[in-house]
Amino acid sequence: MPAKPKDAPAIASLTRAKAKVEHKRLALEIEAHNARYYQKDAPTISDAAYDALRQRLEAIEARFPELVTASSPTQTIGAAPARGFAKVQHAVPMLSLGNAFSDEEVTEFVDRIRRFLKLGADDIPAIVAEPKIDGLSLSLRYERGELVRAATRGDGFTGEDVTANVRTIEDVPHRLKGRAVPAACELRGEVYMLKKDFLTLNRKQEEAGDTVFANPRNSAAGSLRQKDVAITASRPLKFFAYAWGEMTDRPADTQHGMLAWLEKAGFVVNPLIELCHSVDEVLAFYRKIGERRATLGYDIDGVVYKVDRLDWQERLGFVSRSPRWAIAHKFAAEQATTILKGIDIQVGRTGALTPVARLEPVTVGGVVVQNATLHNEDYIKGIGNDEQPIRDGIDLRVGDTVVVQRAGDVIPQVVNVVLDKRPNSAKPYLFPHKCPICGSHAVREEGEAVRRCTGALICPAQAVERLKHFVSRLAFDIDGLGEKQIQEFHERGWIKEPADIFQLKERNSKLKLEEIEGYGEVSVRNLFAAIDARRRIELNRLIFALGIRHVGEGNAKLLARHYGSMENFRGAMAEAAAAQTEAGNDSEAYADLNNIGGIGEIVADAVVEFFAEKRNVKALDDLLEEIEVFPVAQARSDSAVAGKTVVFTGSLEKFTRDEAKASAERMGAKVSGSVSKKTDLVVAGPGAGSKLKEAEKLGVRVISEDEWLDLIGG
Ligand code: IVH
Repeated sequence: MPAKPKDAPAIASLTRAKAKVEHKRLALEIEAHNARYYQKDAPTISDAAYDALRQRLEAIEARFPELVTASSPTQTIGAAPARGFAKVQHAVPMLSLGNAFSDEEVTEFVDRIRRFLKLGADDIPAIVAEPKIDGLSLSLRYERGELVRAATRGDGFTGEDVTANVRTIEDVPHRLKGRAVPAACELRGEVYMLKKDFLTLNRKQEEAGDTVFANPRNSAAGSLRQKDVAITASRPLKFFAYAWGEMTDRPADTQHGMLAWLEKAGFVVNPLIELCHSVDEVLAFYRKIGERRATLGYDIDGVVYKVDRLDWQERLGFVSRSPRWAIAHKFAAEQATTILKGIDIQVGRTGALTPVARLEPVTVGGVVVQNATLHNEDYIKGIGNDEQPIRDGIDLRVGDTVVVQRAGDVIPQVVNVVLDKRPNSAKPYLFPHKCPICGSHAVREEGEAVRRCTGALICPAQAVERLKHFVSRLAFDIDGLGEKQIQEFHERGWIKEPADIFQLKERNSKLKLEEIEGYGEVSVRNLFAAIDARRRIELNRLIFALGIRHVGEGNAKLLARHYGSMENFRGAMAEAAAAQTEAGNDSEAYADLNNIGGIGEIVADAVVEFFAEKRNVKALDDLLEEIEVFPVAQARSDSAVAGKTVVFTGSLEKFTRDEAKASAERMGAKVSGSVSKKTDLVVAGPGAGSKLKEAEKLGVRVISEDEWLDLIGG
C-alpha cells in the first residue's frame, strides 16, 4: 500500500471544512497530473505517488459523500483529448480499473464478487489473470472485418483519431481473419514498445539531439501521437489485444474464449495469460509474473484479474469509473530517495556528452542503484521538454537528496529533488564546455539538447567510430581494413588517428602484424598494398572521411568543388576558425563558406568548429604528410547529360552504382534515387521494376547501360 501523502492528517480526524479544502486541492493536483500524463506523455510523478493521491481523494469522498461532484477526478477518467487530432466518440466508453496493492485487497475483490453474485462458499468464480501492460490503450473499430477507425482512450468517452498512425503497426490487422466476423466491433488493447527498442530509439534520439523519452510508455505514446505518419511508421510499436467495446455479435461467452477468438482474428494476445480457479492460484500468478518482470522484454506495472464468465461480468457491471468484475493488482513502487554524490560526464561514440548521476547506493524495487541517467544539460537545469519529466523547474545539485526511479526496469533516473534537504553549500552545477576525455571544446547547436565534443579526429571516446568511418566505402575504402580490423588495431594501440594507418607498414618491424591470428605474410603484404593504393585520394573523399558533423558525402563534394584543393580549403577554414569568437562567426572566409549553395549555417558552423580545434588540424596535417590529395574533377557543363537529372535502376552489370553516380556527376548530371516528373533520364539494368514502370508512365526517356556509356563517351 503506498504511503499517504507526507504529513497528511488521518481522514477520520478531518473536519468537514478541512476535508472540503483538501478535496479541492487534491482534485486540482490530480487533474494537472492527468493532463501531463495523458496529453503531454510527460508525467512528473510516479504511478505510485499518483495512486496515493487518488486513494486519499477517494477516502475523503467515502467519508464526505456530499463532496462528490460530476467533475471530480473519481468520476472521470484520463483527460480530454489534446488538440491536433480529430475527436472520436467511443461507442462504449473505455473505462479504467480499480487497484489492489495487497493480497488482502485481492481476496476482498473475489469475496465481493461472490457476495454480489450470491455464490456458495465453495463456488469460486474462474478468473483470467493477465499481465498489465504499461503502454497506452487503443480502441480499434472494425466494420465488416475492415479496420475503419483507431482511437486513443482520451477521457474514456472521446479519444483522438490515430487511424493513419495505427495502420503502420504490424500487430494491428487491417482486416480480421475468419469468415464469421461481427458486422461491427471495437477491439481494444495496449500499444507498447519493447524495452530494447526504446533504448535503441533513445540512443538515436540522443545522438541526433532529439527528444529523449523517459520510459518505454512515454516513448510509445509520443511515437503514436505524431502528426507525421512516417515518423510513427519508423518507430517499432507493438500491440496486445485484451478487451473489446461494442460488438454486434460476441463470438464467445468467456473472457478466455474471447482472447482465443482475438488471436484467431489476427491479433497478438499476451502468451502469459492464465485461467485461475482460486485466490491462491491468482496470487501465485502475480508472484510468478513479478519474478519474470525484468526478463519480459516489455514493461508491465502489475497484473489484471477478470471474471471469466461474460454473463457474470454483465451482472457485476460498473461502479463509477471501473468494472466490478476486474481489478489491477499493482507491483510495489520502484522509487527511493538517496543522495546525489556527483555528476560524471560520459562521452558517447559520436561525441555526445551525457551526464550521469553518481548516487549513494540505494535499493530500488529490489535492485541496488548507484548510477542514474540525467539525460542532458537542460535536465540538470530543471528545464526538460514536452516529453520528459520536468521537475517543476528545480535544478539538480551535487549534495541534493533526490528521488530515484527505475523507470520500467530499464535505466534508473533521477525524477525529483527533495528541496527541504538541500545543503546550504550546494552550488548550481556547471555543465562542462570541454570534453572530459580529450579536452576539446564541446558545443551545442541551436535547438539541440546535446552538447558535443568537437575533437572528431583526436578524441579517444570517438576514435573507433571515427576510424571506422575514415576507412568506410565512400571515404578511404581500404581493402582488408574494415570495422573488425580497426577495432582490433585500435585495441592494440596501433591505430589511434588516421595518419597511423599509413605508418603501419613502417612500424611493422616492431608491431609484427603477421603474428596476429588469421594474418599471414601474404595477407599483411596485401593489406599494406591496399593502404598504399589509397595514398592518392580525391579531395571530396578526404573531406568526407574527416567525419565532420553534418558533412556527408554530398556536402563533402560541394566543399571540394568550391575550394578545389586541400590547401585552399584548409587555409580558408584556418582563417574562419581564427576569426571565430564567442559571439559567433564573422569573417570573409566564413561568409564565403556559408554562401556555397547547399551549405547552410549549421554545416558551416560545424566545419569551422572542427578547424577551431587545433589538435584536429594537427591530426589532419599529420595525415597530409602521408597522402597526396587530388582535386575533384570539375563537373563538365558541355556534356550531353549536363544539368540533367538521372536515375539508375535495376541490377547494373557494366558498372557499380557508385561508379555510375560518380560518372554522371563528373558529366554535370544530378543523380536521384526516385523517378518523378523532374527526371530526365532513367538508366535501367536487368530486373528494373517499379522505377522503370513509373518512368514509362511519366514518359521519361529510358536507356540501357550501353546507351549510357555511349552518351557519356565510354
Ligand atoms: S482491461 C474495463 N487488461 O490498464 C477494463 N487493461 O488501469 C478495461 N491495461 O486503460 C481494461 N493491460 O490501458 C485491461 N490486460 C489488461 C491491461 C489493461 C494494461 C491498461 C489499460 C487500461 C488501464 C487500466
